[in-house]
Amino acid sequence: MIRYSFEGKVVIVTGAASGLCRATLEAFVRAGARGVVADINEEGGRSVADGLRDAAGEAMFIRTDVRDTKSVDDLVQRTVERWGGLDVLVNCAGVGVHKTVVEMTDDEWDFQVDTQQRAVFLTCRAAARQMIAQGRGGRIVNFGSTGGHVGRVRAAAHGTSKAGIVHFTKVLALELGPHNITVNVVGPGLIDIRGISNAFSTNEYAQRFANEVPLGRLGRPEEIANTVMFVATEEASFINGHAICVDGGYSAGKLSIDGPHRTVHAPVSADRRRRTPGGVGHPTGPAVARSVVPGHGNLIN
Ligand SMILES: NC(=O)c1ccc[n+]([C@@H]2O[C@H](COP(=O)([O-])OP(=O)(O)OC[C@H]3O[C@@H](n4cnc5c(N)ncnc54)[C@H](O)[C@@H]3O)[C@@H](O)[C@H]2O)c1
Repeated sequence: MIRYSFEGKVVIVTGAASGLCRATLEAFVRAGARGVVADINEEGGRSVADGLRDAAGEAMFIRTDVRDTKSVDDLVQRTVERWGGLDVLVNCAGVGVHKTVVEMTDDEWDFQVDTQQRAVFLTCRAAARQMIAQGRGGRIVNFGSTGGHVGRVRAAAHGTSKAGIVHFTKVLALELGPHNITVNVVGPGLIDIRGISNAFSTNEYAQRFANEVPLGRLGRPEEIANTVMFVATEEASFINGHAICVDGGYSAGKLSIDGPHRTVHAPVSADRRRRTPGGVGHPTGPAVARSVVPGHGNLIN
């Protein structure tokens, strides 16, 4: 197990009242960080901060609505007033409105995109202004999702906002690099958050999802927290503007579709046949011809 040290570092994790955000914040605090639980859920957020302090960690809760400029600016200001600076921002807060495009209302679209995309703009801007003023660099890690890389039915708003976060992160990495502030995305696959969140999918969906993961299982919260923490270390100082999927290989491709059962010959024009010594147009011509399954013609699947 990697033992990270964030002794004395000030870390804000949005959404840390629950789920992966909570697991990530708790891991930072166990590694010595002073952690801010920034969440709209007052009861849950206070309980996480209290639990960490009971275990001798340094943590505080600041009620925050990540969609609201004033709330986000206050979050950074109060953090700095209490602990003198800000070293790491983790943007994790999220919601899930899962509907097809034709079913979705304007308000549902705005709710999803504001919470996951506008929020990332607001929090990054507030944190970056502070980090630039401090002049000692910093780390920003934005939560993406495999849903931002791979299309899924009923996930247009979610996936669009997460894909937008990837692009936003690239631009911000360009802008903040000269200040030695790195900005990256960690994109989880489906993670088993039963016990730490109410947001877990049905077992049936989880099983179908796991069947599409090359490693054959869901992820564990600590696998996400470990990656976020690594990106936030000094050792990760040259990783910038990158989106890391932590998904067991899910976004690498479609596991349920294997290689072609039938192979296509590129049609070789009469003109090319004449120009190519040996009469076969493309160097792969003979190999392709050998690999064609007899009787299956030239169709692609
Ligand atoms: N769980 C997964 O399998 C999974 C997969 C891919 C990506 N993610 C991403 O990880 C992050 C955490 O997801 P989770 O599954 O742990 O969800 P979760 O619901 O357990 O946690 C989300 C937290 O965000 C908070 N939040 C919501 N709206 C907010 C607002 N306006 N202001 C402040 N806080 C707000 C909630 O109160 C909650 O504590 C999200 O960004 C999600 O998209 C999760």
